[in-house]
Amino acid sequence: MSFLCIGHRGASGHAPENTLKAFQLAIDMGCPWIELDVYAVEDELLVIHDDEVDRTTDGSGLVMEMTLETLRSLDAGEGEKIPTLQEVMALCQGKVAINIELKGPGTAEPVNQLLAEMTHRSWNEKNISISSFYHDELARANPLYPRGALFYKEAPYIEKAQALAAYSINLAAKLVDADVVAEAHNHGYQVWVYTVNTKAEMQKMKDFGVDAVFTNYPDQFPA
Ligand code: G3P
Ligand code: MG
Repeated sequence: MSFLCIGHRGASGHAPENTLKAFQLAIDMGCPWIELDVYAVEDELLVIHDDEVDRTTDGSGLVMEMTLETLRSLDAGEGEKIPTLQEVMALCQGKVAINIELKGPGTAEPVNQLLAEMTHRSWNEKNISISSFYHDELARANPLYPRGALFYKEAPYIEKAQALAAYSINLAAKLVDADVVAEAHNHGYQVWVYTVNTKAEMQKMKDFGVDAVFTNYPDQFPA
């Protein structure tokens, strides 16, 4: 069994989260995967985590109430801009696989459209995963790409993963033990766990049989 490191919002413990700098650093640190969060604004997909810009930029307000122009003018830390998904994919192509988390409303359709354009330009479907806590949105993602059913609290994981034809069950670390992992594996699902930031927690997850961990500190990942 392999145990994979996913740079959560890039190497976000070392660089401003969800920026090209953070994704490049995750690549430099040897991550096979990175994770990012997307919102659909006007005709673009923007890579940002919160529904407002206040925590991660020098601006203030709700992402969905701002113009693309304003959002793109903000400083997302260390002079970085809020990147578009297309920019991140261009940076990552041929170097690292991407887990796209559908965070904003109405993101599945534009993600499907962008991926249709990008994947015929040499992205392999296996190197893209689409996940979401919003399972209705996730159900609209193109089933060509492996789906990650995200959970932040206890739920009938298997039933929900089956309903979504998911590839992986993506769980908060507090929900995970060896039994949960074994049950998921018995039903054919991978288990990906967030957010696992210390060597000790990483080792614990590995011992549980977890397949991948999302971490802000890929440099802590056991070699
Ligand atoms: O996909 C794992 C993790 O990113 C989910 O939680 O809030 O960090 O997007 P969050
Ligand atoms: Mg996320």
